Amino acid sequence: MKKKLLSLLLALVMVAALLPTVTSKAAGEKLIAVTFDDGPSQYTSTLLDGLKQRGAKATFFMQGINAASYPAVVKRAWLEGHQVCSHSYNHPQLTTLSSADVRSQLTRTDSILDNAIGLDMSYMLRPPYGSYNQNVLNIAGVPCLYWSVDTLDWKSRNADSVYNEFLRSARDGSIVLLHDIYSTSVTGALRAIDTLQARGFEFVTVDELFYRRGITMQNARIYFDAYPGAAGTASGIQTPAISKTESPSGGLLITINGDSRGSVYYTTNGETPTPANATKYIGPFTVNGTCTIKAVSVIHWNSIRSKVASQTIEYIPAPAPELKYANGVVTITDSNPSAVIHYTTDGSAPTTSSAVYYSPVSISPDSTVRAIAEVKGYGPSAVKLLTVTAGGSILRDVSVKDWHYANFSAAVDQGIINGTSPEVMSPNQSLTRGMLVTMLYRMGGDQQTAAPVNYSDVSANAWYYQALCWATANGIVTGYRDGTFLPNADITRQELCAMIYRYLDLKGYTLPEGEAAAGRFGDVKSIGGWAREYVAALAELGVVTGYNDGTFGPARGASRAEAVTMLMRALALPAPEPEPTPEPTVTPEPTETPAPTETPAPTEAPTESPEPSETPAPSQEPSETPAPTEEPGKIVIVKP
Ligand code: CO
Repeated sequence: MKKKLLSLLLALVMVAALLPTVTSKAAGEKLIAVTFDDGPSQYTSTLLDGLKQRGAKATFFMQGINAASYPAVVKRAWLEGHQVCSHSYNHPQLTTLSSADVRSQLTRTDSILDNAIGLDMSYMLRPPYGSYNQNVLNIAGVPCLYWSVDTLDWKSRNADSVYNEFLRSARDGSIVLLHDIYSTSVTGALRAIDTLQARGFEFVTVDELFYRRGITMQNARIYFDAYPGAAGTASGIQTPAISKTESPSGGLLITINGDSRGSVYYTTNGETPTPANATKYIGPFTVNGTCTIKAVSVIHWNSIRSKVASQTIEYIPAPAPELKYANGVVTITDSNPSAVIHYTTDGSAPTTSSAVYYSPVSISPDSTVRAIAEVKGYGPSAVKLLTVTAGGSILRDVSVKDWHYANFSAAVDQGIINGTSPEVMSPNQSLTRGMLVTMLYRMGGDQQTAAPVNYSDVSANAWYYQALCWATANGIVTGYRDGTFLPNADITRQELCAMIYRYLDLKGYTLPEGEAAAGRFGDVKSIGGWAREYVAALAELGVVTGYNDGTFGPARGASRAEAVTMLMRALALPAPEPEPTPEPTVTPEPTETPAPTETPAPTEAPTESPEPSETPAPSQEPSETPAPTEEPGKIVIVKP
């Protein structure tokens, strides 16, 4: 009894499985197959342009003799998703021919279409004049097509007439007959497509029309229309969705979701997928590095294909290595456990052919280890470096090969600079006024508490506050007329000269007098009158050298590398003789503003503010900066 029930159930399941899957007609879905016979011709390209603009698909019943003249048009039609079909070789009435001649008409045409498209396919047939019998259908051995709407375009040769006939008769499920050997047919058809699309009609190939109506086309049978009724319909063909995730083993894992009723085919070299070049998608796959993936949902290659989805995959670099220094050795690690680390110890740029890191590297003072990580499936990582200075300081963004290395290592070892964050020098970052005051203070400030300052934009909690009090009390800076100091403003080169000059003066250095030496700069006239003496003196001492084009660039900013270079040159000047010490004129005044005796007028009056008029061309590098360095680092200012 139980067994009998089970077999009944099983039988029911089997019956259900045999029934065709019929989906209900999508609400409001209206489909038309527009067909063009006898071409291709000189008008077919225009027609393809118009169809492409409208997103409409058509079916072309081509004569072999014309297809042979326009192979590129045949291929384009196929590539753009239209259905390519046969209309015999040269349009005879097939029912009047011998079986051998019918066969010859059809095989000859098929091979011309195959050659044009570059694939071996079979093509549905529309017998010329709609003239057929069962023998013709049997020889064809493919589904054959008639039509349900005849626009009589071949007779009228009038676009308005084609348009009116098309609209008068076309309805959901129609197969519309036209000929793309007349320009009037092309014009009329495209206008009719516009009107019907506005009314909600979708233009599909014959193959797709029947497919979506749930009708499986049989070989050796002829079809007239696919009006709704007997069968249900499926909705349009879904364009694949391409998604990517990082693969745990390296590279990117690509997943493609296409129309569930068909298969997805894809390429990874940017080519449009065809049966000849595409790979059938069977599951997620991995790609390494840059590529363009194109995918298409395919139900029938010949005519039911989705739009092609395209996605360009960018290269992902491996995670950068980390370098640590302790007790004379550098240890290098990478967050990816399968990373292979390559490194150099001479400051040169590492590549994936540099030495492989196995164990900690011994490093002597004044040398740099640079490392790069290589992980299968990823691009090379960013380069990281670690430099140990003569004094045992660590630099993360200055290598011994950098032009400014000697200046930075000396400045760090002498405690003149700390970096924008620990061990990070940010050589290419602009120097601010607050930074310079701090560096000068570290060079030669006394640790006695100077009188407080009350610039309107300076807080007593600021990291540069103590340095600013010292610099103000000693006349190195005065601030602007409006009571501000602008500590975070980029310093200009002429301001830089003014502050270094006054520092040297304070320390008793013998400084050249007069402005003559500034005359060596081609842009001397753009140097503020108040600053010319300072620029001249520092130029004569070799502390500043100007640009390669002979200009000074007074209003330009200075990078930290340039500023450190100037400061170290200043420190290298012959020590002042002890003689001029008794001069008490520089004694700091207890007042908020320094005595104006030493400098005529408010020295850092608005004239100091940037004068962009004579900014040199950006190509002219200052001689202090021969080459840009890597890894500019974040702009984080650390309290001294
Ligand atoms: Co014809």
